[in-house]
Amino acid sequence: MKHILELAIQYKSYLILGTKITIIVSFAAIILGFFMGLWLAIIRVGDNKPLRWLANVYVEFIRGTPVLVQIAMVYYGLPLAGIHFPDIMVFDVKMNRLSCGIIALALNSAAYICEIIRGGILSIDKGQTEAALSLGFTKFNIMRLFILPHALKNMLPSLGNEFVVMIKTSSQVSVMGLADLMYVADLIRGNSFQAFTPLVIIAVIYLIITTGMSMVMRKLESMLRAVG
Ligand code: ARG
Repeated sequence: MKHILELAIQYKSYLILGTKITIIVSFAAIILGFFMGLWLAIIRVGDNKPLRWLANVYVEFIRGTPVLVQIAMVYYGLPLAGIHFPDIMVFDVKMNRLSCGIIALALNSAAYICEIIRGGILSIDKGQTEAALSLGFTKFNIMRLFILPHALKNMLPSLGNEFVVMIKTSSQVSVMGLADLMYVADLIRGNSFQAFTPLVIIAVIYLIITTGMSMVMRKLESMLRAVG
């Protein structure tokens, strides 16, 4: 087995590209997924029955099918739906692959985040809504001003967990040829005939990214607790 550091230095530029793509794809998916999940959660606790049913079906579909299948469905399905991305390079990878990776992961995470946020909203005592309604607040403002900020504090640990899961799940976009860390480990294996060492290297990089994410979320938690 070749020395780990030696191999890492030899393939430094590959590893930097992989790290960059893993971070871009997972963070973009987390941000997009958060807003889509928030929207889905508001629909799921709302009064519109047909919309609620649709959101329900969506969440069940995403949770009940493998993310690998979802990634392939987005990659092959978007062109069928007439959605084509320009054939240009963004961050050293094809825009098509990058966008499909982000979209597939965001669609996946949205379903899980929807459930986390819905749980957070339901955990808030009904009395708050009733009191605010009697003071003349609209439902939208009650959600925005009282329920969501309050619920957010309770949701942070689960949200942090979901973000870490997404960083790890992003390794599955390598199947469509997007040069993330997992893909780069395969490249290095083909190039150097070392199968195990590249995996150790990317495992360490994943661990650094996920630990960083956990630390940021814990910091955010303690900051929110400090403000009451
Ligand atoms: N590993 C599971 C799958 O293959 C789920 C991954 C996504 N999980 C999540 N919490 N976003 O389908």
